[in-house]
Amino acid sequence: MGQLWLSLHILYAIYGMSLVAGNPCKITEDLTADCSHLKLSAIPSDLPRNIKALDLSHNQLKKLPAANLSVYDQLERLDAGFNTLHQFEPALCKQLLMLKTLNLEHNEFTKISENDFTFCVHLSELHLASNGISNIDGNPFEKLENLLFLDMSHNKMISTALGNKQQLNNLKELYLNSNKISKLNKEAFEFLANTSLQKLDLSSNPLTEINPGCFQAIGSFAALVIQNTQLDPQRTEQVCSELAHTGVRNLTLNNIRLSKIRNTTFKGLADTNLTVLDLSGNSLSQIDNDSFVSLGALEILNLENNDISHVNPKTFNGLSKVRVLNLRKSLSSNLKLDDLSFQSLHNVQYLNMEANKIISITEHTFIGLTSLTNLSLSDSTLQQHTLTNRTFLSLSKSPLYHLNLTKTGLTKIENGAFLCLKHLQLLDMGLNQIDQEVSGNELEGLANIEMIYLSYNRRITLTSNSFIFAPSLSKLYLRKTALTFRDLNPSPFKVLQNLTVLDLSNNNIANIQEDVFESLSNLRILSFEHNNLARLWKEANPGGPVLFLKGLKNLEKLSLLSNGFDEIPANAFKGLCKLKVLDIGENNVYILPPSVFDDQHSLTLLDLHKNLITSVEQDLFKNVFSSLKYLNMGGNPYDCTCESIAWFASWLNTTNTSVPLAHSQYICNTPARYHGNPVDNFDSSPCKELAPFRLFVSTFSLMLVFILSVLLIQFQGWRIHFYWTVSINRILGFKEIDPRKRNFDYDAYIIHAQNDVSWVENHLIPLEKNAGSKLQFCFEERDLEAGTSTLSAFVDCINRSRKIIFVVTRNLLNDSWCRRFKVQHAFQQAIEQNRDSIILIFLEDIPDYKLYHTIHLRRGMFKSRCILDWPDQMERIKTFYQRLKIALGSTNLVNLL
Ligand SMILES: *[C@@H]1O[C@H](CO)[C@@H](O)[C@H](O)[C@H]1NC(C)=O
Ligand SMILES: *[C@@H]1O[C@H](CO)[C@@H](O)[C@H](O)[C@H]1NC(C)=O
Ligand SMILES: *[C@@H]1O[C@H](CO)[C@@H](O)[C@H](O)[C@H]1NC(C)=O
Ligand SMILES: *[C@@H]1O[C@H](CO)[C@@H](O)[C@H](O)[C@H]1NC(C)=O
Ligand SMILES: *[C@@H]1O[C@H](CO)[C@@H](O)[C@H](O)[C@H]1NC(C)=O
Ligand SMILES: *[C@@H]1O[C@H](CO)[C@@H](O)[C@H](O)[C@H]1NC(C)=O
Ligand SMILES: *[C@@H]1O[C@H](CO)[C@@H](O)[C@H](O)[C@H]1NC(C)=O
Ligand SMILES: *[C@@H]1O[C@H](CO)[C@@H](O)[C@H](O)[C@H]1NC(C)=O
Ligand SMILES: *[C@@H]1O[C@H](CO)[C@@H](O)[C@H](O)[C@H]1NC(C)=O
Repeated sequence: MGQLWLSLHILYAIYGMSLVAGNPCKITEDLTADCSHLKLSAIPSDLPRNIKALDLSHNQLKKLPAANLSVYDQLERLDAGFNTLHQFEPALCKQLLMLKTLNLEHNEFTKISENDFTFCVHLSELHLASNGISNIDGNPFEKLENLLFLDMSHNKMISTALGNKQQLNNLKELYLNSNKISKLNKEAFEFLANTSLQKLDLSSNPLTEINPGCFQAIGSFAALVIQNTQLDPQRTEQVCSELAHTGVRNLTLNNIRLSKIRNTTFKGLADTNLTVLDLSGNSLSQIDNDSFVSLGALEILNLENNDISHVNPKTFNGLSKVRVLNLRKSLSSNLKLDDLSFQSLHNVQYLNMEANKIISITEHTFIGLTSLTNLSLSDSTLQQHTLTNRTFLSLSKSPLYHLNLTKTGLTKIENGAFLCLKHLQLLDMGLNQIDQEVSGNELEGLANIEMIYLSYNRRITLTSNSFIFAPSLSKLYLRKTALTFRDLNPSPFKVLQNLTVLDLSNNNIANIQEDVFESLSNLRILSFEHNNLARLWKEANPGGPVLFLKGLKNLEKLSLLSNGFDEIPANAFKGLCKLKVLDIGENNVYILPPSVFDDQHSLTLLDLHKNLITSVEQDLFKNVFSSLKYLNMGGNPYDCTCESIAWFASWLNTTNTSVPLAHSQYICNTPARYHGNPVDNFDSSPCKELAPFRLFVSTFSLMLVFILSVLLIQFQGWRIHFYWTVSINRILGFKEIDPRKRNFDYDAYIIHAQNDVSWVENHLIPLEKNAGSKLQFCFEERDLEAGTSTLSAFVDCINRSRKIIFVVTRNLLNDSWCRRFKVQHAFQQAIEQNRDSIILIFLEDIPDYKLYHTIHLRRGMFKSRCILDWPDQMERIKTFYQRLKIALGSTNLVNLL
């Protein structure tokens, strides 16, 4: 028992201490104390005295005693919403003379007493929403001379009257929405007779009775909002006629079930200067002719979200000042859109016809829209999926510069489709099903075009002339269009000298030429992610790597994300001196040439995440890291050794560059004992203390070298012998013959077993006829002159061939003539002429020891590219021929290392 008491005491002490140790409110620099959501039942007494705003919302306060708050006499904002307050102390305003905003929403002030706010003369904003207030007795707000904003919404009031005499002279906004007001009497707003009210919100009230003269007292008000109630056509007409002669300029009649508009509905508004009318969300299906004729001053008409079934030339009659017409989602699926329907809308600049079910455009649809600059049909289905030279004919007199045809179901653009739109600057045709070759004439007439968005279409093929009529383009988007090039010579982009943004992402492009972007000297952004460009940068690519970024001297942002790159040529980014953002993430890059970033002096963002980079060395990265603000190299298999990572680890520890997830995404892969450790935990101190070990290491190394040499000679003697012979030959004056300078009659001599003749005839000889390859083999069965001694003919022919191909099969190994003579001679020749000239093609899997025992060759003697395996799978045969051509083209000079 005693123990329990003791622990309770301790608990109490700890709890008490935490209270004493400081209140849990957040105080910010602008002197705001946020004490919300803390289950407080008392007002914290230890806040800074000079706070200007105090948030006590979402607590359990039952009272708001003036005495407790009086210490904070600098308060300008007090938020006591979402508590259980039910009484307001008039003294509060007396104590807090600076108070401007008082929020008492969501409490229990069901009744407001006459003198509650007597002293709140300085208050400008009062929130009393959601308190269950049902009635106002007397004039509780009378003294609020400076009040601008009063929110009485979500209460239970049945009348709009907040007093029985004139008051609130400065009120600008009054919210009476979501109450139980059903009647608007003549006296409804008389208490506001002397104010210049701007906005009145009467939404969500069961308004059934609109009496004459109800708005006259507040005649100068500017905006009336009535939403979410049932006001049907007849009461709407009443509201409008009551608004006659008022100053109303904005009228929102949203979601009031106005299903029909008659020619009398808005008649009352004739004597106003209404400029904004919002009729959205009304399931409106019928608009009678000439319904809007009284709205001569209207500038913005919003008919969004309706179900209009017929639009004719008289529908919009009289709307000659309208600038913005919003018909988004407003037309019925069985819409009848007559010709010339927009003929009276001379001033409309922006016509929004988005998200309609089906729209049929004729040669006369848009006639009369002589000020139209912006037309959006996006997400509406066009009845005709092909744009012809007639589709936009009716816009030929419009100064249209922005046309949005996104998601309209387009499949084709015919020649001359935009011929009348000579002012067009922005053309959006993304997310359609366009499937065509762009010959150029489709874009004819777009003399001022700046942007074309064609991304996400079915299939687009570019030709050299595709953009010949749109040379002013500065932004071109062709993402995910299964893009192919019909002709790359000259490049389709050659004419686009002002292009600054080009998006070719997600196209699986595998083949482009080095000069494809050469003339795009103004290009700033190139998005080339998710393509298949890896081969272009391979050293082994026939003709060498394709440096397709040549000429982009103003490029600032380049994305090559996910292209399968494993190699990056040293010159890949040469000349890209202005590059700021480079993304090579999600490739297979494992090694970067030392000088690859030499021209990138101002890189701020580098992304190499998810590659196969193991080391980050100072020599390569120090310069490029120096200007970086953001680095992402996470997800690489780092090799956490002193040489590979020590510099990077300490850079990571000290840099100001932002490296997100530095601790979780930069993980050691090797050596085994660090596997899984974060790179930034790498302890680099041992790396610096290596010096004393050096002597020991060097002695040890000498011994090791000796031991290894002995072992090497034991097991690799053949290799040493081979290179030794080569070297001796070189020294003893067998002149090095650079095969590139000597003319051979044949590209290769083919050595094969008698039984493999047919394989050679079927698979090697046809290569000679391949267009472009210009290969010439010396094939014994064909090229050795009959009659001459086989032996000398063979020797002669092999001398005239640049390479010797061995077709290695078990047959060859068992063929004694081949084995004894040909192979020996070829091998001798390779050594004597100092040539690395042998190519082995394995038709069967033959173990290395067998090869050595029979013909004294080992795979290890040759460069890997000179050893080819004939593939089993058909689809690999192409690759085989590619590799064979590379092997045939490679130099013969032996590279001793
Ligand atoms: C007001 O202050 C008194 C005395 O400090 C305290 O007892 C009381 O709980 C406080 N009331 C509120 C609602 O903060
Ligand atoms: C009406 O407002 C004016 C100026 O705003 C003021 O001088 C006048 O006293 C007000 N009248 C009433 C009855 O409040
Ligand atoms: C009237 O509507 C326009 C356009 O929507 C808006 O900019 C303006 O603030 C509104 N005026 C009032 C008093 O609500
Ligand atoms: C309104 O329409 C009715 C027929 O629906 C017509 O008789 C009347 O003249 C029209 N009024 C105006 C002002 O156009
Ligand atoms: C409408 O505007 C005109 C010109 O600005 C003005 O003379 C007229 O009084 C205004 N009408 C109303 C009802 O406010
Ligand atoms: C539209 O193209 C057709 C051929 O497709 C041609 O006959 C007609 O003259 C063209 N019309 C215009 C206005 O260019
Ligand atoms: C075209 O409309 C779509 C959908 O409304 C929008 O996302 C896109 O940004 C618009 N295009 C332009 C160029 O404004
Ligand atoms: C490219 O831009 C320059 C400068 O803005 C301009 O003078 C030139 O006419 C443009 N070229 C084309 C083909 O539009
Ligand atoms: C980096 O910081 C961590 C923790 O601060 C430390 O353990 C580690 O040794 C530091 N590494 C380097 C390379 O400075």
